[in-house]
Amino acid sequence: MIMSIRLLYTLHTLFFLSLSSISYAKVTPRFPSSVVSPEQISVSTENELYRAKYFTQILDHFNFQPQSYQTFQQRYLVNDTYWGGAKNNAPIFVYTGNEGDIEWFAQNTGFMFEIAPHFKALLVFIEHRFYGKSIPYGGDKVVAYKNSSTLGYLSSAQALADYATLIIDLKKNLTATDSPVVVFGGSYGGMLAAWFRLKYPHVTIGALASSSPILNFENITSPYSFNNIVTQDFKSESENCYKVIKASWQQIVDTASQPGGPELLRKSFHICKDDISAGSLENWLGTAYIYTAMTDYPTPSNFLNPMPAYPIKQMCKAIDDPATGKDIFAKLYRAVSIYYNYTGTAMCFDLDDNSDPHGLAEWTWQACTEMIMPTDGNNKESIFPASEWIYNDRVRFCKAKFNVVPRPTWITNEFGGHDIKRVLKRFGSNIIFFNGVRDPWSGGGVLKNISESIIAIVAKEGKLSSESKDKYMHTVNCTSLLIIAVIFLWETIISVKRSRWFLLIFT
Ligand SMILES: *[C@@H]1O[C@H](CO)[C@@H](O)[C@H](O)[C@H]1NC(C)=O
Ligand SMILES: *[C@@H]1O[C@H](CO)[C@@H](O)[C@H](O)[C@H]1NC(C)=O
Ligand SMILES: *[C@@H]1O[C@H](CO)[C@@H](O)[C@H](O)[C@H]1NC(C)=O
Ligand SMILES: *[C@@H]1O[C@H](CO)[C@@H](O)[C@H](O)[C@H]1NC(C)=O
Ligand SMILES: *[C@@H]1O[C@H](CO)[C@@H](O)[C@H](O)[C@H]1NC(C)=O
Ligand SMILES: *[C@@H]1O[C@H](CO)[C@@H](O)[C@H](O)[C@H]1NC(C)=O
Repeated sequence: MIMSIRLLYTLHTLFFLSLSSISYAKVTPRFPSSVVSPEQISVSTENELYRAKYFTQILDHFNFQPQSYQTFQQRYLVNDTYWGGAKNNAPIFVYTGNEGDIEWFAQNTGFMFEIAPHFKALLVFIEHRFYGKSIPYGGDKVVAYKNSSTLGYLSSAQALADYATLIIDLKKNLTATDSPVVVFGGSYGGMLAAWFRLKYPHVTIGALASSSPILNFENITSPYSFNNIVTQDFKSESENCYKVIKASWQQIVDTASQPGGPELLRKSFHICKDDISAGSLENWLGTAYIYTAMTDYPTPSNFLNPMPAYPIKQMCKAIDDPATGKDIFAKLYRAVSIYYNYTGTAMCFDLDDNSDPHGLAEWTWQACTEMIMPTDGNNKESIFPASEWIYNDRVRFCKAKFNVVPRPTWITNEFGGHDIKRVLKRFGSNIIFFNGVRDPWSGGGVLKNISESIIAIVAKEGKLSSESKDKYMHTVNCTSLLIIAVIFLWETIISVKRSRWFLLIFT
């Protein structure tokens, strides 16, 4: 019997997906939830890694109607401990904020803090409009998030224009007009960093884009790529682990349809609520596997949820453990507990928990307008049930949720992506694309060197380094990145005579 249940509608934020099944009306963003410790978020204020500042930003950079002159307060974070000062033309490192609270990204981008002393760099982290505390309409989220009339100002092009406007003004205030600016970012923030270098070469001399799938648009990257990598991540730990998970979807569906089945599932997985559906359980399990693949760091981490080092390995260990015998559900329960209950504090699991501690929900708007990134196809070998990426499902969802129709080709019209090597080889410069091959997003990343100064650093499986505290960069080999970035930046910023890149820019 063919079951209709499958994982559908993955509206990704770059780190977070929302998975839902069967009915698009039920789609809600799913985020790491009850188990995210609130302490993690307040850490910043105690650590004093930076000072928060606000800049009066223009609501609409791209037209001159009266309403576009409205302004909002955009937050940015500054750390000037290492800065060599304007007089020395010391550089400014800017993090181009992603779809969430900027403090969260700043706290997880230790890489910038690590390299800043070597360059005497000023550190600046700019929050993306409509996220965190950078909310238009007087900071009123109810108004700002209400409908397409206000959300319409949430776009990548507006965000880049914000960054340019803020950086130029900041440099003026610091009388640091000659200080070179290098932009950094990971995930969506990395896409923005790369695009920023291409669009605003007069504002930044280079970009470091980590795990940034700028090629995951239209048909440039296969829609199966993302889940193929997730599959491979589990398979590479153990074939049995992969097989157990792959077979489990049908078993869940079969069990749910039997008398007493839902109750059995509820008990097996320690679910709080009485009424559970196979679909919601599948989404909940799938979420754990995907997020774990996205954050399969070699050290214990607390980026999404608290997790041990190499969490996929731990999950597969739980599944392969002979102690759980033949009870598939007991195996899966133990595996996903590594994601949902590593701290051991969860009383029961809420499948419909939509809490959003990092303020990522507005990505759904972006995923309904310009960020059409086909990633949720599953071929026969996938660890998830086979399914196709169906663009029209997205359209239906977006019509229902926002009454908007996506523009799936806008990103490549605006930023390119097709035939990237030919296009950027002679035009672009000074971008490092950084990917770990086990990262599911790496499929849509730039994995090949484009030119002498647009380079791809690809960290292979098994080369993970734990020498840095940086969770963000942990998908890849931190040490090698550090060395390459230092050489790259050094040549770019400081070594006036020897650097070809520098000469390219300034002569
Ligand atoms: C900047 O970061 C360093 C390293 O984390 C920290 O020691 C310092 O206190 C920070 N400075 C400011 C002004 O927040
Ligand atoms: C959005 O909401 C505002 C305030 O309720 C309303 O004036 C406006 O027409 C709405 N826009 C759309 C596109 O529905
Ligand atoms: C620059 O200084 C002006 C005047 O004090 C201030 O309004 C503005 O916010 C500053 N710019 C930035 C980026 O902080
Ligand atoms: C993508 O689609 C376009 C238009 O249908 C086609 O011309 C192009 O060859 C396709 N590219 C790839 C990589 O499949
Ligand atoms: C979470 O882990 C603790 C400690 O192992 C356990 O007592 C508790 O039952 C677990 N919670 C759930 C919902 O499984
Ligand atoms: C690209 O070039 C850099 C610098 O020459 C090198 O370290 C790196 O391994 C190359 N990347 C790939 C994917 O070949």
